[in-house]
Amino acid sequence: MKRDFLSFKDWSREELDSILKRAIELKDMRRKGVVSHPLTGKTLAMIFEKSSTRTRVSFEVGMFELGGHAIFMSPRETQIGRGEPVKDTARVLSRYVNGIMIRTFSQEVVEELAGYAGVPVINGLTDLLHPCQIMADLLTVIEKRGTYEGLKVAWIGDGNNMANSWIEAAGKIGFDLTLACPKGYTPNPMILGEAHKMATGKIRLTSDPFEATKDADIINTDVWASMGQEEEQKEREKVFKGYQINIELIKVARKDAIVLHCLPAHRGEEITEEVIEGPNSVVWDQAENRLHVQKAIMEKLMGGNL
Ligand code: CP
Ligand code: NVA
Repeated sequence: MKRDFLSFKDWSREELDSILKRAIELKDMRRKGVVSHPLTGKTLAMIFEKSSTRTRVSFEVGMFELGGHAIFMSPRETQIGRGEPVKDTARVLSRYVNGIMIRTFSQEVVEELAGYAGVPVINGLTDLLHPCQIMADLLTVIEKRGTYEGLKVAWIGDGNNMANSWIEAAGKIGFDLTLACPKGYTPNPMILGEAHKMATGKIRLTSDPFEATKDADIINTDVWASMGQEEEQKEREKVFKGYQINIELIKVARKDAIVLHCLPAHRGEEITEEVIEGPNSVVWDQAENRLHVQKAIMEKLMGGNL
C-alpha cells in the first residue's frame, strides 16, 4: 500500500524519528561523497501552484542525488491551469511517475490528489500545513541541541501553515510549544484541539511574545503575510507590529537559544537584520536540511521498502 506525506497525522513518532535519523545519515553520506541511488529509474512530478525557491530546488536536487528524476509542473504550462480536475491529473500522472509533490492553496486539493493517485503524494505546502519544512526544522534542532525532547519552543507571529505544522509536531512528539499570536490570527482551532488531545508536549497560546520567548530554547517565526495574502500586507504590518524577533526579545530567551525562520524572510518586519545575521540564527542550516530530510521522505515513500 502506498503512503502519503500530507501532514503528521498519519505518521507515528517512531516513523518520524526514523526519517530524521535517515536524513542525518544521508547528510553525512553526502558530506563524505558517498553515492546512493535507491530511486534509480524513478520520477517525481512537482506541481507548484505557488512560488518556491527552497522546496523546488531541494526536491529536484534530492531526486537527482537519489538516482531519480524530477519534473517541474506549473499551472501556466500545464492543463492544471486550464481547469483539468485534480482527480484526473492524479490518475494520469500516476501512470507516468512514481511520486507527486504538490504545493497549492487548499489542503483539500492535496487530500483529493492523494486519494486518486496510485503513487505517494507529498505536501510541499498548503495554506494549512507545511510538514516538510517542520521536518527540516526538527532536524536542525536535533543537530544543534542533540534532541527535541523537553525543549521549550516559541512561535512568534502569525498562526499560519508553519504554526499549524509545529502544533501537529508538538502533539506527536515531546517538546513544549508556546505560540504568541495576535487576536484574530491564532492557529487552526481543529489542529490545536487534536494536538491538545494527544498532549505529548504542552501547547500554549498567548498574545505576548515576551511570555512565549521567556527561557525558550528555540525561537521561531515566519512572514506576516503568507503567499495568497499579499493584499493584506499593509493591514498585517499594523497588527503584527509588536511580534518581531529582535534583540530585545531574544534577550529573554536562553542565552544559547537558536532562531529559526523557514525563509523567505522580510527583514525589518517579523525579524531584524541583526538577529537573522546574528549568532543565534541557524536559518542557513535549516534551509539546507530541507534537502536531506526530503531525500529521507522520498526514499521512504518511493524506495519500495515501506
Ligand atoms: N521555506 C520554503 O518552503 O521556501 P520556498 O517557498 O522557497 O520553497
Ligand atoms: N507561511 C509562508 C511560508 C513560506 C515558505 C507562506 O505560506 O507563504
